[in-house]
Amino acid sequence: MIVTTDALFRLAYGKYAVGAYNINNMEQALGLFKGHIEAQAPFIIQISKGARKYAGIPMIEAIIRAAEQMYPDAIYAVHLDHGDEETCYSCIDSGFYSSVMIDASHHPFEENVAITRRVVQRAHANGLSVEAELGMLGGVEEDIAVDEKHAMLTDPDEAQRFVEETGCDSLAVAIGTSHGAYKFKGQQSLHFDRIEAIQALLPNYPLVMHGSSSVPQSEVERINAAGGALDPSARGVNEDEFQRAARLGVTKVNIDTDGRLVWTRVHREYFRDKPQEFDFRKPGTVFVDEYAKFIVHKSEKLGSAGKLSEVRSALG
Ligand code: G3H
Ligand code: 13P
Ligand code: ZN
Repeated sequence: MIVTTDALFRLAYGKYAVGAYNINNMEQALGLFKGHIEAQAPFIIQISKGARKYAGIPMIEAIIRAAEQMYPDAIYAVHLDHGDEETCYSCIDSGFYSSVMIDASHHPFEENVAITRRVVQRAHANGLSVEAELGMLGGVEEDIAVDEKHAMLTDPDEAQRFVEETGCDSLAVAIGTSHGAYKFKGQQSLHFDRIEAIQALLPNYPLVMHGSSSVPQSEVERINAAGGALDPSARGVNEDEFQRAARLGVTKVNIDTDGRLVWTRVHREYFRDKPQEFDFRKPGTVFVDEYAKFIVHKSEKLGSAGKLSEVRSALG
């Protein structure tokens, strides 16, 4: 059942975070639904502009609808990830999405406000909610000066002003994470002081954490042992910090890279160990099961595991 993103946020806020996973193909969809039913967790499916181009818009939607027929108990929202204005309008008009993200964070503050406000107006008129982004979600390295590091994080006063001026329903904030496999040098924690300061000015307001993959070292090592060439210094977010962040208002946690690592590990190991094989359904089946296991693990770390019946009684 597709539900609104807002409804999921209202139930989760301050208690747990909802996992938001990007999908691009059938195998990811099968693993995603299977894993969330096993974990009994609600979730958010994210579709990027790249995914819409890769699979084709009708195909990506059909994959999700077909997965729902196979897993009718699943409860989830469908969200456009990192949209530009034009893609937001296309998704709003399609009637398929629960919410869109307008990512105008690379524009100056006032322009970000103006673009976000336009998208919010059109989305709200059609019953969708909007995630916007403020701050530089770049890599915050350990060896740069504290002032510089803090300047790259979302400013709490600006966040409050931005939300008031745009009417956006959730906000992606820069709190120390970045996209991809190379987030940090060495061990690094989320900037909890900054999350707390934002929550103090925006109480009960859902915050979104992008770049939340944990980039497990074991995964990187297995990929490299099977012929990959990933930089072994790749580091991600400590998953044990998800629930502390959730209590401070981080209600949506975006994960994509970790799923790509599962895919790469499964396929590299499969073809290394069975070089004579060319039936792609065999590693595909292994991937679906491994991806489902990965989803169960993430749901436990996010605190969303076991919440499905509660969500069903509230929304069903
Ligand atoms: O943050 C972006 C997601 O990882 C989606 O990536 O734009 O390559 O589909 P993509
Ligand atoms: P990762 O690259 O850490 O998986 O982040 C994904 C993301 O933020 C999608 O919007
Ligand atoms: Zn992102």
